Amino acid sequence: MIKDIQEQILKLKKEHDVCILAHCYQTHDILEVADYIGDSFGLAQQAAKAANKVVMMCGVRFMAETVKILCPEKTVLLPEPDAGCPMAEQLDTEMLARLKAEYPYHAVVAYINTTAELKTQCDVCVTSSSAVKIIRNMLEDKILFIPDRNLGGYIKAQCPEKSIVTVKGCCPTHARFTAKDVERAKEAHPNAFVLVHPECGADVVEKADFVGSTTEIMSYAKKSDRTEFIIGTENSIVQHLGIDCPEKRFYPLSKDFICSNMQLTKLGSVLRCLQGKGGEEIVLDEQTRLAAKKSIDRMLELGND
Ligand code: 13P
Ligand code: SF4
Repeated sequence: MIKDIQEQILKLKKEHDVCILAHCYQTHDILEVADYIGDSFGLAQQAAKAANKVVMMCGVRFMAETVKILCPEKTVLLPEPDAGCPMAEQLDTEMLARLKAEYPYHAVVAYINTTAELKTQCDVCVTSSSAVKIIRNMLEDKILFIPDRNLGGYIKAQCPEKSIVTVKGCCPTHARFTAKDVERAKEAHPNAFVLVHPECGADVVEKADFVGSTTEIMSYAKKSDRTEFIIGTENSIVQHLGIDCPEKRFYPLSKDFICSNMQLTKLGSVLRCLQGKGGEEIVLDEQTRLAAKKSIDRMLELGND
């Protein structure tokens, strides 16, 4: 059944010249039909290079918007229109205008998990894997970091030379776990290394052996000589690592570590979208696109090696 759907997807994507980009939080059956799999930074880099006429983003809305910002000439599809990132909706342009009035001399650095509209008001975007490098590379010392207080706090600790103001946003999936959850998982698996995403709270990050983006966590676990890991991010990463490294053991920090938005997209959603029976084409007005593009271009400039 899965193989059947995958074959239909592969046939249709070839016929319609579609490039499928998939975030690592998608299920393994989707990753198997994707042309590129990555974290938010890798997906943006890939979007800028894709040669196909159509790009389908299996992930959440802000990721599909980033593709459209970078590739206006392409048709950009989001297979499940309701797949949004709640954190991206936590701050709007009016709230940001008030913050800018409060911190008029601060450069505005936005986590890429923001709407295209909000990006129009920001100086540079960052992702979890590129944030520290980009902020270190910036000439500005005073930074207003929006909206994730946890990633902001992590960057602050890594870049003590900068003066960084954070706000109250967070990822509802990552922010609900605490040091207690880490202690419980470590008690159950005393030999396991703890790998967490920087969207987790400071108390969780403090107890971790490694902090990184989704792809950084996966490549760390794959390369490590260790054999047991507790994974402090969305549980799809536990699934992928278990399949890719059957000789190692991966345990979720919690069985409830699930982003329901990321999991909205199913293999069937991908097929329906390719058949023209579902999904949404991302449309941005040119003024918004061009204004938002400045912060994404700056991210790629400062974050690329
Ligand atoms: P990455 O940058 O690690 O892909 O994170 C995106 C995200 O939404 C994590 O919750
Ligand atoms: Fe957004 Fe959190 Fe889901 Fe990532 S895990 S898409 S930050 S809600």
